[in-house]
Amino acid sequence: MPLLEWTDRLSIGIKGIDEQHKTLVNMINKAYEATSWPDSRKECARLLERMRDYAMEHFTAEEYLMKGVDYPDLEAHKAEHQLFIDQLLSLTADGEEVTPEEIFAFLREWLVTHIMGTDAKLSPYFKDS
Ligand SMILES: [Fe+2]
Ligand SMILES: [Fe+2]
Repeated sequence: MPLLEWTDRLSIGIKGIDEQHKTLVNMINKAYEATSWPDSRKECARLLERMRDYAMEHFTAEEYLMKGVDYPDLEAHKAEHQLFIDQLLSLTADGEEVTPEEIFAFLREWLVTHIMGTDAKLSPYFKDS
């Protein structure tokens, strides 16, 4: 059984965005699983690749939708997205191998602070839209 299950409490009311958030939950579960593997290097490399793709696709999509509704906190929200990208880069910047524990901690923190905090504030703008 995965560590985390998607729940509708995480939904912000836009199917495409929710689907992308589900892939992030899936990445958290994969990282957690990999913490018990004897050799998780390939999985970590795959996860880092997926995190880069996620940042590119998902942040672009979310920011586009926010612009469409004149979301008042767009700039602050974009700054958090940029922080994810910066932190992702710094994870790999020192040339050291990234551990599944590091990826797990990073993504779990993102889920709690950004998706359940910052993204959740988008919900009233899109629910029932
Ligand atoms: Fe966001
Ligand atoms: Fe998001």
